[in-house]
Amino acid sequence: MKKKILSFMLAATMLTGLLAGCGSSESDNGAASNSGQNAGGAATEAGATNTDGGSVQVGIVLPTKDEPRWLQDQAQFESILGDAGFTNQVLFSQGSSATEKTNVETLVSQGVSVLIICAQDGAAAAAAVEEAKAAGVTVIAYDRLITGTDAVDYYVTFDSVAVGEAQGQYLIDNAPEGTGIPLYLYAGAATDNNAFLFFEGAWKVLQPKIADGTFVIANSPEAVALQDKAELTRDEQGKIIGQITTDWDFNVAKSKAEAHLTAAGADSKGDVLVLAPNDGTARSIADVFAADKDITSYRITGQDSEKASVQYVIDGKQSMTVFKDTRTLAADSVEMAVSVLNGNTPATDTTYNNEKKDVPAKQTDIVVVTKDNVKQALIDSGYYEASEFTGLE
Ligand code: BGC
Repeated sequence: MKKKILSFMLAATMLTGLLAGCGSSESDNGAASNSGQNAGGAATEAGATNTDGGSVQVGIVLPTKDEPRWLQDQAQFESILGDAGFTNQVLFSQGSSATEKTNVETLVSQGVSVLIICAQDGAAAAAAVEEAKAAGVTVIAYDRLITGTDAVDYYVTFDSVAVGEAQGQYLIDNAPEGTGIPLYLYAGAATDNNAFLFFEGAWKVLQPKIADGTFVIANSPEAVALQDKAELTRDEQGKIIGQITTDWDFNVAKSKAEAHLTAAGADSKGDVLVLAPNDGTARSIADVFAADKDITSYRITGQDSEKASVQYVIDGKQSMTVFKDTRTLAADSVEMAVSVLNGNTPATDTTYNNEKKDVPAKQTDIVVVTKDNVKQALIDSGYYEASEFTGLE
């Protein structure tokens, strides 16, 4: 353990420099070797230096490889941890809490000191992190809060309520003139605490426009039943989310949107608004709306700034996305790990209650991206290369 702490201390110095230049993927990686592995067990080019006789210092568990969002996070972790000289391993749960638990157990058996975990299912992950905690591992919940357990030490997250607010506000600011505008609502997976936070933010800004008749909910009787309530309880949110969930799955999103448009009458067609919770589901839903001859125009939200959605935004097929800079989130969690292992208390700026405790948290702001600022937000910031897109002005 002492050796690990020393290497973390060393890395802390390196990390400070690294964070200052955050965004560059060409940072000094003089210490060569690669001990990082991906879920398939194949060695990656993580560039991590093995300083501890083959064991893994920092274990990372991410929900799925099937969404580009989490591949962005993987790339950032491997780059930051590798450059800082940590051995690390990123494992994917592939949508299964059982796989997630096995992944945690694997990492614990490999001797990780810190576990950074983005839960597949926030409640189900409690058992896995309790096991890690019992083995002396520091647990950092990453992006998604793990609920119902005191085995979560820290939480690094984007401001998820602000994501939902930004989506709702975009629809308000870009709505067609008039009243009675059809509004289609979609949400994330009910097993993800973030789905509630995104919906809470969106509802906060959209509800007054629904209550005064400017917007008319087109696809959720549960939401219609609650439309006069400015603030919803978790149970009430759960009822609506249960009806409009995409499960974070493109196919579910597509078939729900198809069913909604098939059932919709003429007054729910024409110029419409769509609250889509993230980019993957937004692209699926947008394709369905674009194919309906009775939809004259649609505005649709998203989040994550996935490459495919950035192209959709440039092409006018998706109206906005929210940029959640994974460089910052990954760097924040690594910085937190370094701090813990140096015996310091990591800097946090808020807390999130997970039903068992107020988890100290570090929260990162989000940026709204539309056609107008896509270049400035995503290319000039070094997140993507202009050459990865067509039609960029
Ligand atoms: C994340 C989003 C992501 C979604 C689906 C959420 O918890 O915050 O960025 O799009 O999960 O994976």
